[in-house]
Amino acid sequence: MNQTTIPPLPYNPKALPRETARHYIPATAQDIQAMLGSLGLSQLDELLQHIPASVRMAEPLALPEELSYEALYRHVVEQSRKNCVPDMAFLGDGLPHYKVPDLVPFVAGLRELMTAYTPYQPERSQGTLMTQWLYQCCLAMLTGFEAINASQYDRATSLVEALYTAARLSRQGRTHFLLLGSLWPQDLEVVRTLLEGTRLTYDVVPIDPARGTVPLAALEQQATVKADTLAGIAFPQVGSLGCLEDVDGLTDLAHRLGVRAIVVTDPMLLATGGLKAPGTFGQEGEGADILVGEAQHLAIPPHYGGPGLGVFGMRYNAAHQQDMRQAPGRFVGDAQDEAGRPAKVMVLSTREQHIRRHKATSNICTNQGFVATLTAAAILARGEQGMQEACARGRTNATTAARALLRLPGVRLAFPDTPFWNAFVLALPCSSAAMIETARQRGIHLGVDVSSRLPGSTGNHLLLSFSDLQEPAHLVRLTEVFVEMLGAPDPAGAPAHATTVTLPEVPTAYLRREPVGLPSWDGEQLRTFFTSLSEQNISPDRTCYPLGSCTMKYNPYINEVAASLPGFAQLHPDAPLADAQGTLEVLYNLQEYFKAITGLPAVTTQPVAGAQGELVGLKMFQAYHRSRGETQRDVVLIPHSAHGTNPATATMAGFETVQRGAETLSGVVEIHAGSNGQIDLDHLRQLLTRYRGRIAGIMITNPNTSGVFETRFQEIAALMHAEGGLVYMDGANMNAIAGWVDLGALGVDAVHNNNHKTWTIPHGGGGPGDAIVAVSARLAPFLPGVQVVRTAHGYALEHPPQSIGSVHRHFGNMGHKIRAYTYLRALGRQGVRRMSAVAVLAARYLHQRLKGHFPTLPRETPDSPRMHEFIITLPEATFEKLEAAGISRTRAIGPFGKLFLDFGYHAPTVSFPEAQGLMIEPTESYTKAELDRFADAIIMMLQLVNEQPTILHTVPHFTPVDRIDDVSANKHVVVSARLTTMPPVLPNRIAPDQLAQMPLEAIAEAIRAASAAKLQDKQ
Ligand SMILES: Cc1ncc(COP(=O)(O)O)c(C=O)c1O
Repeated sequence: MNQTTIPPLPYNPKALPRETARHYIPATAQDIQAMLGSLGLSQLDELLQHIPASVRMAEPLALPEELSYEALYRHVVEQSRKNCVPDMAFLGDGLPHYKVPDLVPFVAGLRELMTAYTPYQPERSQGTLMTQWLYQCCLAMLTGFEAINASQYDRATSLVEALYTAARLSRQGRTHFLLLGSLWPQDLEVVRTLLEGTRLTYDVVPIDPARGTVPLAALEQQATVKADTLAGIAFPQVGSLGCLEDVDGLTDLAHRLGVRAIVVTDPMLLATGGLKAPGTFGQEGEGADILVGEAQHLAIPPHYGGPGLGVFGMRYNAAHQQDMRQAPGRFVGDAQDEAGRPAKVMVLSTREQHIRRHKATSNICTNQGFVATLTAAAILARGEQGMQEACARGRTNATTAARALLRLPGVRLAFPDTPFWNAFVLALPCSSAAMIETARQRGIHLGVDVSSRLPGSTGNHLLLSFSDLQEPAHLVRLTEVFVEMLGAPDPAGAPAHATTVTLPEVPTAYLRREPVGLPSWDGEQLRTFFTSLSEQNISPDRTCYPLGSCTMKYNPYINEVAASLPGFAQLHPDAPLADAQGTLEVLYNLQEYFKAITGLPAVTTQPVAGAQGELVGLKMFQAYHRSRGETQRDVVLIPHSAHGTNPATATMAGFETVQRGAETLSGVVEIHAGSNGQIDLDHLRQLLTRYRGRIAGIMITNPNTSGVFETRFQEIAALMHAEGGLVYMDGANMNAIAGWVDLGALGVDAVHNNNHKTWTIPHGGGGPGDAIVAVSARLAPFLPGVQVVRTAHGYALEHPPQSIGSVHRHFGNMGHKIRAYTYLRALGRQGVRRMSAVAVLAARYLHQRLKGHFPTLPRETPDSPRMHEFIITLPEATFEKLEAAGISRTRAIGPFGKLFLDFGYHAPTVSFPEAQGLMIEPTESYTKAELDRFADAIIMMLQLVNEQPTILHTVPHFTPVDRIDDVSANKHVVVSARLTTMPPVLPNRIAPDQLAQMPLEAIAEAIRAASAAKLQDKQ
């Protein structure tokens, strides 16, 4: 296509009412005036009058002017074209790039799967649950591991979680690890960053530069020295130099030492005909203990490094029944509904941060769920044969290229005796960097210069990686480019025929023994199957999705188009910077925009979720205190109402809680809330005295999880700073204040933005999310990763002087940053403030409509002005009626939430942070009419329950399945199965779209009838 032509959009935006509304706010001017009027207000800014003037943001916001829809589209296309993505690349280096089956973009377009939240309401989320279950099953089949979780951020963070898991499993409290030097350096950097200041320790065992692998003898020797403290050995199946490790020997060594064998693998290479499944490693075939990997490339293009897909697996067999309970993240399990229908549900949640808080096994919350969904689709679309072919093509391309290149003068394999699979390192007769640049000028991204990984290298080592993307012509062209640079084969010195070049053989012991046995389902049937799964979910596209604290706002279609533009999506993170200028400019602009939005002087775009942003914040706190010699600061103050990730993050950062009786000696200390729902300042002062000199910082959610702005934040921050501590603001609720509150003036030292909340990134049924963390000048030198800087010669990368290191491989979820950027360009300087003000207006208006029917929580604060969300509970009289019908007060709220499903909505957030609360966040994405119908529906739900409390025994009625028996699912946990036939998909009994067309009274009538029938059946 001509580089000036803008391709047509793949949809008609005018047919999507929210898509073309200014700032994606569909409420009309009359709507807004009417809602303001009902609150006795006339202007949007009156909604935020209670925020102290001293912390208000000065106008105008330093953002560019908003772009019209057409201009925005043109802009993102042109921006993507500033990158250069050649059609020939041999990059890889832990993030290869394969062909993407057509089913993947099809599934990515199923909005109910892509935009739904984490499946906390399983009856309305069977679509998400099934796709994640399929992912678990496919990966279990490929790896031989019985329990694969529903994803981690990426391979690097998955490795860190594996070390924590192994330490927990180690009965003697061992905390030391040996990591093979052949692991990816990017991953080792993340390990270094995240283990700093924790109780886990490790040594990296260097590779043998002649072999590219780590000698077992050296490893054994080092293991013997650390025998008393060793908890595990982490090793790659294919190392960062392309060499295959002796996985049987490594597994057996770990087991002889009584420690966990942690393997890092690439699932693509485990297809039939490929490498040995980790579940069968070892002479006896008992397998490794913990599995770590990256699977992004199975489903999506590189996206300049992310979203990634961290694979994490555990054994779950007769010998390892309980290990899985120490695993991080979410698992989807087999279940049944009350009527015995097959269903899926999240299991083992009691390990997770939202329940266990500082005792959780990990702080991960938002994961990479939708990439897992897409990976299931990709594997099933390829089927057994397609996976085998993709794996085999990478191998054949690698050996063909090696044979051709090794004939050239001075070119040899860096490790001639070590087997490789689809990547190898060449020792060149010239500088690799020069070779890469010359190839770039000829339109090829040649490979990665790995000289720094090899002691003694003279800068001449080049890693080339292969996949199913290279055609024979590409390999010919590759050889031609080498010949241009190095000269033709020397007829005297080189073998006459390429095929006579001898490559190291892959021992049969390294290869898979049995076929994987993946199903081969028909492509058309798979489309129908995934479409039916999507219909089991709902999307904020259609109507209010009121999950408090989750900001389920509309996710513009144009963001998706922007993120999938080839110039952005196909770009590999190892591409030369000169070819990545379009993406780097986006990153640079995002840094600038978020400085403006937060009022803070520095920003990192590397974190990939709120919880990871928190961890970055606390790691920077530690680095800051260390730099001042204040390593004794071992306490973090966190309000009781905080999200579970806050205390879990503090623990993961190294602030482990030590208690003596009821007294907390160190770690996470809870602050009480005052009667106004805000932090109790008197209690805070007591804590500051009690822990004087030992407080590393405070974590405050603002607005807090009751939807109330912490009006004394500035005072709290000043108290904290006076004590030498730092202030973290959990910015999950930025949708309420973005553009209105200057966080610098508030006294914030670090804040995360959940881009998957405020900045319109779809939740994907649990992830991937994204986060941008802004910091004060104190913390700027410690920022993770790299900063993008603008120079006279274009955009470049710079390491902050005292950086804590990277927290995620590459640049985080870059695809999501493109989405956030596209959204911000649509909002412009006026839109950010308008967006938050209308979000607050919607919540205030809805609260006003419901206040007369439902009490507000916290009980003492009915009149504290709410921001973007509010919490209600059932009236006392309703609780009494329910108790009389056998539904105790503590069990009433969950079922009441299920009534929302019957009216075609998603449930609000139930029982958090108030046990009897329904936390409602409507967002700015709906019209007044939509909010009115929603309010009327909630009022009608109350009427229904008052008139017939037993309805809560039978809810929900119209979803594909009845209430799911998660107690049994957690007693007999089943997290994978061999896939043979396509699972059945149960239809909605009344589809949400149909419910949306029905009068509320008709829905109520249908509920009464359905409930009566169910009660009769139960008798
Ligand atoms: C208040 C709050 N803090 C932190 C988090 C964690 O963010 P993430 O899920 O992006 O890791 C959430 C997520 O729901 C939240 O609501």
